[in-house]
Order: sequence, then structure tokens, then C-alpha cells
Amino acid sequence: MVSAEGGSAPTNELDTVPQHVAIIMDGNGRWARQRGLPRLAGHRAGTENLRRIIQACVDFGVKILTIYAFSTENWTRPQEEVGGLLALMSRVIDRELDNLRKNGVQIRHLGSLDELPPDLQSKIRHAVQVTAANDRLVLNVALNYGGRREIVGAAQRMMREGLAPEQVTEQTFSRYLYTGGLPDPDLIIRTAGEMRLSNFLVWQAAYAEFYATPTYWPDFDPKEFRKALVAYGQRTRKFGGLPDADR
Ligand code: IPE
Ligand code: IPE
Ligand code: MG
Repeated sequence: MVSAEGGSAPTNELDTVPQHVAIIMDGNGRWARQRGLPRLAGHRAGTENLRRIIQACVDFGVKILTIYAFSTENWTRPQEEVGGLLALMSRVIDRELDNLRKNGVQIRHLGSLDELPPDLQSKIRHAVQVTAANDRLVLNVALNYGGRREIVGAAQRMMREGLAPEQVTEQTFSRYLYTGGLPDPDLIIRTAGEMRLSNFLVWQAAYAEFYATPTYWPDFDPKEFRKALVAYGQRTRKFGGLPDADR
């Protein structure tokens, strides 16, 4: 699925490409309802789109892509939808892993494996293991992920390991998160119009640029993605300071 030649769109005009993009892939259900289809058909279409966006990341030069696939709150959905989603994820790994591996994508999992069905757990472990040495694109899959749970988990681990209070700095804390060792996202995209984080990357989002679009995730194609990257390139990131022009 990811090829070196690319094919999504030319990379020119994009002078400031974010290194790390995170996406809240929302709107699958509404996309399906709009077409009179069951919600799961929307989730299926969403996975097809993911393939295009992964390729677009390689084409545009994004080095890290983090996707929100299933939140710790999504368990509250009807059992049928949850079961369908988990089965779909299993199938996506079966279908895509070989290609991702061959094309240099490193898969990482953000979240807890604990509540997931055992066969999905082992498929995720396997996918992470066999792609660990890849470095063309890091693909973080937030699955059974909750930002607050991540923070609490980090605090628990630091306490268990006996860290002294002075050792608990922002740097140390970051290392204990699921994203330990990776830079924070530069750009967070949310599809389908909602203006909230929904417990996504609560710590890491501190200075990310936020981009929201009404487009539903299955329709968020590489052209739309490119628009988000162009918008990012026009932002002035200040990190609390003053831009050069005002100094
Ligand atoms: C996002 O689409 C996918 C997941 C949360 C798993 P939704 O299923 O939330 O779609 P909407 O928001 O109902 O349209
Ligand atoms: C966020 O979408 C979670 C994922 C995209 C996986 P939701 O649809 O679950 O978020 P809310 O419920 O609208 O906040
Ligand atoms: Mg939603």
C-alpha cells in the first residue's frame, strides 16, 4: 500500500511540513447514515481511507502519524458496534501488515492491550515487533487509548519504580507516556466538525496546532489532508513567546 514513488499529490508548495501529525478520525457513523448504511460500513470505509492517508504522509514527508482508532470511552457503544470494530481492526492488520512492513512503516501501539480480545492483542504485539526496525514513517495507533489513563499510568509507573519527587520533571513524565521518546504532535486534525479532543493526547497536545474540518473521515482524502498541511504552514507558532516581527 505504501510505495516509494508516491502518487497522492506533489510535495511542492508545502514548505513547512509538520513532523508529527495526529488525527482524530471522526465521522464514520455519520458518513454511513448519510448513505443509509449501517455504522460499520462507515468504519470499513474509514479503514480504506487510512490507507490513502498513510501513503500521503510518505509523499508529503510527514515522519510520524498518530491515529485515534478507539478510545477508552468507545466501550460504552452498543456491543454490536464494539465487536464489529474490533473484528475490523483484526482484519486490517491481517490485510495490511505485510505491505506496511515492506514499505518501512514502524507500527507502535498507544493504549492498553488489557481489555482487548486475546487474538487482537497478539496481532498487535506481532505487528509492533516485526516493524520495530522500520523508520520511513512511524505509525502510532491509539487503540483502547485514553489520555487521562495514560497520564495516571505514567504516574503509577514512576511511583512503582521509586522515583524521587525531584526526578518527576516534565521530561521524565513525557518519557513514561505511551509516546515516550517521540516528539509531541505539531498538528492535530479532527474530521467531522467536532471541536474537542475527546481524551486524545491530553498531555502531548499542549502546543499542537489544531485543525478541524467538517469533512467526515472516509471522505478526508489526500487533497483534504494537503489543505490541512497548507493551513499548518501558514500558522505562527509562538509557544508563549513573541513572533520575530514583534520583538
Ligand atoms: C469515529 O467515527 C470512529 C470511532 C470512534 C471508532 P464515529 O463512529 O465516532 O462516527 P460518528 O461521530 O458517529 O459520525
Ligand atoms: C473520538 O471520537 C474517538 C475516536 C475517533 C476513536 P468519538 O466519536 O468517540 O468522540 P466524541 O464521543 O464525539 O467526543
Ligand atoms: Mg464520533
